[in-house]
Amino acid sequence: MPTTLFHTQLEMSTLVRTWQDSHETVALVPTMGALHRGHLALVEAARRVSDRVVVSIFVNPLQFGPSEDFARYPRDIEADLALLDQHGLTDVVYAPDTSEMYPEGHSKTQVIVSSMASVLCGQARPTHFAGVTTVVAKLLNVVRPNFAAFGQKDAQQLAIVRQMVRDLNFPVEILGVPTVREPSGLALSSRNRYLSPTEKGLASSIYAALLRAQEKYLAGQHDARQLEQLVRAKLGEVGLEPEYVSIVDRDSLQPIEGEIHRAATLAIACSVGRARLIDNILLTSGS
Ligand SMILES: Nc1ncnc2c1ncn2[C@@H]1O[C@H](COP(=O)(O)OP(=O)(O)OP(=O)(O)O)[C@@H](O)[C@H]1O
Ligand SMILES: [Mg+2]
Repeated sequence: MPTTLFHTQLEMSTLVRTWQDSHETVALVPTMGALHRGHLALVEAARRVSDRVVVSIFVNPLQFGPSEDFARYPRDIEADLALLDQHGLTDVVYAPDTSEMYPEGHSKTQVIVSSMASVLCGQARPTHFAGVTTVVAKLLNVVRPNFAAFGQKDAQQLAIVRQMVRDLNFPVEILGVPTVREPSGLALSSRNRYLSPTEKGLASSIYAALLRAQEKYLAGQHDARQLEQLVRAKLGEVGLEPEYVSIVDRDSLQPIEGEIHRAATLAIACSVGRARLIDNILLTSGS
């Protein structure tokens, strides 16, 4: 089945209403395009639980800082559509243009998940998560899905969206999808297009360092500071200087100092060449 392409809210919400009238469930996969296998894994997770799948493609100006890469962010809707067509699991691509999403120029209303938006990536990108939660709230209101899928690669985004949905009573179930990686361990990311082959090699050290820390954790090293030090040292060996290496509570994202007693996320942000990369791993003794 060829994937339908919609650009307007009216087309999108009209079709969703017909699905809902026939008691079909709907899952939304929000993306910024430049699709890769990580996005396809979200579509697959959405398809497993839902009758219908909508992929949104929108490069959201609100989540880019003034000196970030909004203008040069990769945009290739034709390639994205071809990939989704070939994959065969998406019903509709919803790709509004900026004036459709923000008809008044800028959104006067913003959704801010306080405290969670200012830690980790929020330190270097202070307005980023307000941009994300505002656009996700808008997309949830246009598509009114039963499910929405987000990648574990963006662990902070996933935790913040879950919190927003609880706090504001959005009637949607959030699906968290495991990170899809290159054979080298590098997490797939649209911004990997900015990397040269040599930089890609370097970037694979990020996951290697995370894995090393997880092994140490499972072998009994539960001190957050020690584990963070270990990761910094591993990255330092290949000349990488991370923006942060941080162990935080998986759900609240608040930093853990000292002993790790609950499900924690070990998260890294690190620039390699022109790309600012993020990755993370879960530290739990259980599952
Ligand atoms: N490697 C991956 N595995 C699983 N999900 C992913 C992966 N990469 C991105 N996603 C998820 O895809 C969704 C859309 O993300 P987005 O379009 O920003 O892609 P991206 O690869 O993160 O791009 P960028 O490199 O610009 O951040 C998010 O929920 C994100 O977590
Ligand atoms: Mg992203």
